[in-house]
Amino acid sequence: MRVLVLHGPNLNLLGERDPEVYGRQTLDELNETIAREASAAGAEVCCEQYNGEGQIVDALHAARKTYAGVVLNPGAYAHYSYAIADAVAAIGIPVVEVHLSNIAGRETFRRTSVTAAACRGVVSGLGATGYRLALRALIEILGA
Ligand code: DQA
Repeated sequence: MRVLVLHGPNLNLLGERDPEVYGRQTLDELNETIAREASAAGAEVCCEQYNGEGQIVDALHAARKTYAGVVLNPGAYAHYSYAIADAVAAIGIPVVEVHLSNIAGRETFRRTSVTAAACRGVVSGLGATGYRLALRALIEILGA
């Protein structure tokens, strides 16, 4: 089973960007954690990161042909990108949304996720553990 983990804008700066909010782990280190979890669960994972909204839409479109499901951290696009929400709804494979920080407890503009409605579920506020849980949930949804 092949699963895509898609990181959105500014997540390439993990480790140096607001470490008190997002932690000190770099994106490469986070991806290693995710890869270990995937291999323990018997899944094959590929991790990609894009800053552009259109790049994320394109990656979601491409994923429908290649992957069984997607773990998606849309970054700030979660709060206003109907294009990404539409892409999630259009691709016909399960997508689980994840946020490192607890978006429900932050600034008002972060408390809404327009992409979440199109996703199977959301894990928020659990840091890297949230990605591991989202991956596990996705694998269970996919029936492996
Ligand atoms: C984030 C939360 C967003 O509000 C923020 O813009 C991000 C990261 C998170 O993982 O907590 O870039 O998606």
